[in-house]
Amino acid sequence: MMRRREFLKTTGLGAGSVLAGSSLVTFLTSCTKMGMMNGGDMNMMGQSQPVTEGAFNKLLSIPGTVTVNTTLNAQATTANINGSTISVLGYQANGILGPTIRTESGMNTNIIFQNSLSENSNIHFHGLKIPADMDGHPKDIINPGNNFNYKFTITQRAGLSWYHPHPDGDTASQVFKGLAGLFIINDAEEAALNLPSGGYEIPLVIQDKRLSSSGITYNPSMGEVMTGYMGETIIVNGVASPFAEVKTKYYRLRILNGSNARIYNLALSNNADIIIIGNDGGLLKNPVTVKNILLAPGERLDALVNFAGLNPGTEVFLQSSAFSNGGNAQGEQGFKILKFKVTQSESDTFILPAQLSSFDPINPSSSSRTRNFIINGMQMSGGMNMNMSGIHKINGKIYDRNRIDETVSANTTETWVFDNSQGNEPHPMHLHGVHFQVMERRGGRGQLIPSEGGSKDTVLVLPGETVKVLVPFAELKGVFVFHCHNLEHEDDGMMLQYQLV
Ligand code: C2O
Ligand code: CU
Repeated sequence: MMRRREFLKTTGLGAGSVLAGSSLVTFLTSCTKMGMMNGGDMNMMGQSQPVTEGAFNKLLSIPGTVTVNTTLNAQATTANINGSTISVLGYQANGILGPTIRTESGMNTNIIFQNSLSENSNIHFHGLKIPADMDGHPKDIINPGNNFNYKFTITQRAGLSWYHPHPDGDTASQVFKGLAGLFIINDAEEAALNLPSGGYEIPLVIQDKRLSSSGITYNPSMGEVMTGYMGETIIVNGVASPFAEVKTKYYRLRILNGSNARIYNLALSNNADIIIIGNDGGLLKNPVTVKNILLAPGERLDALVNFAGLNPGTEVFLQSSAFSNGGNAQGEQGFKILKFKVTQSESDTFILPAQLSSFDPINPSSSSRTRNFIINGMQMSGGMNMNMSGIHKINGKIYDRNRIDETVSANTTETWVFDNSQGNEPHPMHLHGVHFQVMERRGGRGQLIPSEGGSKDTVLVLPGETVKVLVPFAELKGVFVFHCHNLEHEDDGMMLQYQLV
C-alpha cells in the first residue's frame, strides 16, 4: 500500500497546499478509495480514544531476561493479553514483546536479529549511544527471512533503555502489534546504592492496544494520524489490567511508556509518594518526590514506591490521572493501569540515599551553536486546521533519507530548541545517538518537571511549549535520525537526519 505521505507527494497535496471546494471533495474521495479513512470516519481534527478498564484479575507477567549474547526473532505469534489467545508480533515464539536484555556497562553485544516477519524490519536500541550503523536507522532494514548481527560496546552508565523496530513508515504498526523490549544496563555506581532488586525490582512496559477477538488492530484514520493511534485497553508487560502482589517494602519500578501516542500522568490511587530516582539517561543526582508525573511515549522512569505501613489486603492502583493541555485527544480521562495487592508484611532495611549518582551537568556556556526546530503542525489556510496526514513536519520538512538536515561537528555541544509554541498537539521529541540535558521550558507548563533532571533522550513538548536542550555530541560519526516519538507522527514524516562529522 502506498504510504500516506507518498500519496500526498504524488497528488501534490503536501506542504503548503490549500484545499477548497471541489478539490477538497476530490481529495477526500481519493482518500476513501485508498482506504486511508475507516468506515466513513471524516473526523479530521482527531478524537480521543477512551480507555476501558478491565477487572485487574490477571497476574502481571515479567518478561524473561537474556544477556547481550542473544537472538531476537521477530515473528507473528500468539499471546493471551486479555483472556483469550490472539495474534500478535513478538521477538520470540509465544508471547508479545521481547525479553529484557540485561547487561553491565562495558560489555560487547552479539545480538542476532532474525526477521521472520513478512515485511522489512530492523532494531533500534532506543537510549543507547552506539555507532550509526548499529543504531537501527530507518534506511538500514533487514528483509524478511534475513538476519543481522548487532555488535557494539556498551560505553554508557546504568539505565533503562529499550529496543523496537524502526523501518521507515512501518515503525508504528510493528510496535503497536507487539514488537518492543527493555534493555537494562547496570554498573558499579548503581550497585553501590543497594536499590530494591530481584522480586522488588519490577519492569513495567505500559502500552495501550486496540484489541479484536483475533488480534491487535492497527488501521489509523486520518484523524488518528493527527492525534496518534490509541487503544481502549491498557496493557502492562503484555497483560491487560493486571495485578501484582507486593509486600510492605520499597519497590523499584522501571517504567517504559511503550505506547505509540498515549501520554500517562502516573500517580498512585492512595496519593502515596512516587520517588523518582532516574529517567531515560540513568540515575538522577538526587531523588525527587512527586505525587504524579507525566510520561510520554519513549520516555522511561526509574521510581521507588514504598508500601510500608499498609495492611495486607490493601489494594493500591498505579493510575493515569487526568491532565491538562494534552491537545485534542489526550488528558481528559483518568484510568487505572495496574493493581498492587499488599499480601504480606515484611520489615525493610532499605534507606533512600540522599545522593544517587555523581551526575555532573554540562555547562551551558560550552554550547557552540543553537538550532531551532519548529514542530507545530501546519495550519492550513482558510481558517480551518485541516489536520491532514503528511503534515507533521520539523522546520517545514518531512523525512527524506536522501537529505541530511543538520551537519554537526563531533565532540561539540549544541543547544537545540523544539518550538511547539503555535502547535496544538503534544510531541515527544527523541534524538538518536546522544543523551541531552533539558535546560528550559517556556510556555505551557513553563518549567521542567522532576523527571527531566539528569540526562534524557526523549522530551515531551506539549502544545504551546518551547523546550531547550543541551546536546553533548560525541564522536559517533555517521547519520542519525531525530523525530517525534508519537509513532504516527514519526511514520508520517516528522523525522529528520543529522550527520556527525
Ligand atoms: Cu524509540 Cu527513533 O526511536
Ligand atoms: Cu509529534
